[in-house]
Amino acid sequence: MTEINPDIASIVLTEDDIQTRVAQMGKQISEDYRGEDLLLIGVLKGAFVLMADIARAMSIPAEFDFMAVSSYGSSTRTSGIVRILKDLDMDLAGRNVLIIEDIVDSGLTLSYLLKNIKGRKPRSLEICALMTKPDVQEVSLDIRYHGFPIPPEFVVGYGLDYKQRYRNLPYVGTLKPHVYEERA
Ligand code: IMP
Ligand code: MG
Repeated sequence: MTEINPDIASIVLTEDDIQTRVAQMGKQISEDYRGEDLLLIGVLKGAFVLMADIARAMSIPAEFDFMAVSSYGSSTRTSGIVRILKDLDMDLAGRNVLIIEDIVDSGLTLSYLLKNIKGRKPRSLEICALMTKPDVQEVSLDIRYHGFPIPPEFVVGYGLDYKQRYRNLPYVGTLKPHVYEERA
């Protein structure tokens, strides 16, 4: 069993929960895009873990590209103003594009990205997100591949950070209050 990081207060998704769901999502994506062209776009940094696991859960050929974005705002809240730190290398015109996102909180980051990517004329555009926070989502989004709805709490692990830490935890959990005080 994985040892739990001492800064974690509670586990929201276990490693097992995540791996079981990601395997199902990879299988579904493979069925839906079998025989079709497919380009996965990972939204850095958070999506790097999901992207790696989804990629290996798929049984069809695909290409991969990454975009790095940063949302202006505090370390635990987004403002919806998104800055592109690293753009895609590939041309999206005529491609079937699937965006891979770790979490949809307000939905502002993803709705900005969707608009931006649609402008590049892909043939199709869908979203895969491991988690959503339905209670705090501000914009409605059509998420074709959805892992889990979670409560509206700040979580870390499986790609998600607090001040750039905890991304490599294989599970998702909340932080103990002392972490916010010490790293404020
Ligand atoms: P949104 O624009 O409010 O939907 O926020 C999206 C981005 O904020 C995600 O891609 C994450 O990078 C980050 N984020 C949102 N909620 C959390 C969280 O609970 N923990 C860590 N990062 C989060
Ligand atoms: Mg993110």
